[in-house]
Amino acid sequence: MDEPVTDSSERLQAIYEQLSEEHRRLMEMVNRIQAARSSEALKAMLEDLHQSLMAHFAHETYPDGFYQAMGACAPEYGSNLRVLVDEHFRILSRLWSIKERIDPEQPDIPPRLSDEIAGLTMMLADHERQEHELATRLLDRAGVGPP
Ligand SMILES: [Fe+2]
Ligand SMILES: [Fe+2]
Repeated sequence: MDEPVTDSSERLQAIYEQLSEEHRRLMEMVNRIQAARSSEALKAMLEDLHQSLMAHFAHETYPDGFYQAMGACAPEYGSNLRVLVDEHFRILSRLWSIKERIDPEQPDIPPRLSDEIAGLTMMLADHERQEHELATRLLDRAGVGPP
């Protein structure tokens, strides 16, 4: 039998709806980055992505934000949530490292950096997928359902 809808699950639903839009915009940025053909354009796009991700991760981890709402709905997922929060720092660090090694004076993007970008974007996409899956599972369990 489903658990009754609670304030915490309704709160998670509202936050999740907002973040889903941010996730969609981030994935659009990732798609543009994957299609970049010049070092100069790529460096600028990675700078934009870094700024957007810093804001996005801050939204998720603010007091009363997404992670706190998920933790309130499911304290037993605490270790999963900690792994995801740790990934925020690892994603930002990898992104910064790649961006710093791009020389905008060199028109071509070195294959090694393209490979690293592909790995980073997979890591980011997997991170966001895990957040969606966890939020959806918790909302389903509370009988609310995703927005
Ligand atoms: Fe996240
Ligand atoms: Fe996210």
